[in-house]
Amino acid sequence: MMYSNKLGRLMFGLRGLEATSARGAFQRAAARSGFSWAAVRKQRTLWQQRMHQTGGRSAVHTTVDPGEVKRFQLLANKWWDEEGEFAALHAMNDLRVPFVRDNLLNVQRERHPGQPLAGLRILDVGCGGGLLSEPLGRLGATVSGVDPVEDSVRIARLHAAHDPDLRDRVSYRACTLEELSDEEQGVTQFDAVVASEVVEHLADLDTFAICCSRILKPGGSLFITTLNKTNLSYALAIVVAEQLLHIVPRGTHDWEKFISPVELECLLESNGFLVQSVQGMLYNPLSGAWSWTNNTEINYALHAVKQDDEAEAGSTTPGGHNEAAHS
Ligand SMILES: C[S@@+](CC[C@H](N)C(=O)[O-])C[C@H]1O[C@@H](n2cnc3c(N)ncnc32)[C@H](O)[C@@H]1O
Repeated sequence: MMYSNKLGRLMFGLRGLEATSARGAFQRAAARSGFSWAAVRKQRTLWQQRMHQTGGRSAVHTTVDPGEVKRFQLLANKWWDEEGEFAALHAMNDLRVPFVRDNLLNVQRERHPGQPLAGLRILDVGCGGGLLSEPLGRLGATVSGVDPVEDSVRIARLHAAHDPDLRDRVSYRACTLEELSDEEQGVTQFDAVVASEVVEHLADLDTFAICCSRILKPGGSLFITTLNKTNLSYALAIVVAEQLLHIVPRGTHDWEKFISPVELECLLESNGFLVQSVQGMLYNPLSGAWSWTNNTEINYALHAVKQDDEAEAGSTTPGGHNEAAHS
């Protein structure tokens, strides 16, 4: 199923949503997911309580969780070991690279045979060693990777330097999304932002969503892959993958930071995005391969588009329903 309909899985605390746009996002998300209105109302009440406690603002203004930075610092020399700690991320390229490419090609009119993403500027937030930045660069995009872990950025630079085709196309900086967005102040805007397996490591998702919106061109695409907050994701991503099979190092994930597609969609829609598609992803630990699935209970990929203010006003019906197609 695309979205879980069990109340027990609606354990999300809704963070930093603006009241009016959140209502529309709830309505659309609930309509597509089959949630009961009682569940939606319950979540809205929870969110309103939280907003009241924080004076309507998010309590934290940095995406950086120092514990996460420390954890990835210790793994920085492992990025390009295809059979090591990051093997599942290497394998995920089989799904996420075509996901980004095909959705961008759907939005883009110009065609560049052999270099389908030529002319597009992509920001890879939480790029790590550049596992996703590199293939996107090879498809012709100009990719900027940012990550707060300096050693990861150093490894990413070193690795990209081995491929002459990437030298002018992929660049990396040790910084956060919020630092970049503050510096740029709208000067450089990206055609797409990718944050793959990153949001579950951030301290504050409101800041993340606000900065993504600032740094993207109107009509630009945001691609996120992450973990759902379900009982099953706890069992598989933490108990099985970390504690039993050691597919990823123990302590990599904190279930409290996982986020359901509905909550993520609410957050993005309250920050001027319209979610185009949400697709489940399944990892097979025996084959080491990923496949697409309609079930989003564990991992999922999301594509959202930053709305043009004027276009948004024109395409929203009085009932608050946008006409965009969803899959
Ligand atoms: C699981 S790894 C994913 C790396 C890369 N996106 C990939 O899929 O190959 C998570 C990455 O997020 C980075 N990260 C942690 N906190 C971050 C923050 N506040 N802003 C940006 N990146 C962050 C970590 O340093 C790490 O490189």
